[in-house]
Amino acid sequence: MKKLNVKIGKTRLKNPLICGSGEHFIELDGIERALRAGAGAVVIKSTNESDAAKTQLEKTDYALLNSNFEKLPWDFNPPRDASLFNRSGLHPKSFDEWLDLAVTADRMAAEFDAYSIASLIPASVDQTIEYAKKVEQAGIRILEVNVGAPHGEEAAKGAILLERQAAHIEEITKALRKAVSIPLWIKLTGQSQEIPAMVLAAKDAGADTVTLMGRYMAFIPDINTQAPMLGTHAAYGGPWALPLTCHWLVKSREKAGKKYPILATNGARSGHDIVRFMLAGASGVQMTSAIFSGGYGVITDAMRELQDYLNEKNMDATDLIGLAADRVKTYADQDRKEDYWRQFTPK
Ligand SMILES: Cc1cc2nc3c(=O)[nH]c(=O)nc-3n(C[C@H](O)[C@H](O)[C@H](O)COP(=O)(O)O)c2cc1C
Repeated sequence: MKKLNVKIGKTRLKNPLICGSGEHFIELDGIERALRAGAGAVVIKSTNESDAAKTQLEKTDYALLNSNFEKLPWDFNPPRDASLFNRSGLHPKSFDEWLDLAVTADRMAAEFDAYSIASLIPASVDQTIEYAKKVEQAGIRILEVNVGAPHGEEAAKGAILLERQAAHIEEITKALRKAVSIPLWIKLTGQSQEIPAMVLAAKDAGADTVTLMGRYMAFIPDINTQAPMLGTHAAYGGPWALPLTCHWLVKSREKAGKKYPILATNGARSGHDIVRFMLAGASGVQMTSAIFSGGYGVITDAMRELQDYLNEKNMDATDLIGLAADRVKTYADQDRKEDYWRQFTPK
């Protein structure tokens, strides 16, 4: 059996599958089921101080869509063939209740040789720093701060901060780094052309890793009702997002250096997708929509597929990191082939 474990800075994960934050980790039961299924870590549903962000959880809606934008049954499997379009809110409980849950969840995770990660989505930076200190004081071992939630601009004013500028990422990360010494993971938006610069800024300011990258905001007209699907703009993700995330992983690896660990999110649906993300430079992979809609068996299946791949290739998980990224060429490097394009024009 080839080895599955990876290192994210100083943290050793027993395997690279991290369950990304979502509604299935609002309660302990979902976290426990993910840990039992074998996840290396689970990111608990995020919180902040905003009542509007909590209330927004009562206004969510979710649609799984095929490539023709037709609704699929919610438990549609395999997750590879579905995209998820949804609104979301933050954890419905008070910060103190959320913190109790996070403490219990991380203690439980330790029994599985895994982690339950506390997750904050800032409304205000000052309050986030205060919450980060409380997370550390409570004994939780890892903190992720998502400064790029896609819903930032559609949510009530002041409910969710969405940062797109490297200078701001540096400022926020520095302040958090000063406030806490536990591993600090910074999750970034995908809705920016400054992604590699944001990664470098987070690294320089002391983040142990960055999670790349949040989903996109989308708008889908329904051709039957001629109204917007779900009634609003909403976040959109699917297997098609994996190559886009990989593109930014490779570019960010070039900027931040090969030794800096980066986590992938947005597009993973299977064990082979974990492989793809790692070949593009990820040290670990967060998976959310596939588990939210497909169930905890998706974790077991993905782990089996990853282990089989590693055994077949006779490689450990860490051997995969960046192998494809480091073989990328430029357009200019390509051989010239006269008239080759003609083969691709319609006959
Ligand atoms: C229903 C839903 C709720 C989410 N809630 C959160 C959240 O509270 N905090 C957070 O950082 N990310 C949240 N995310 C983002 C996911 O963790 C993940 O980054 C994103 O869905 C892309 O990965 P995927 O393709 O595996 O779904 C949420 C995603 C979904 C689909």
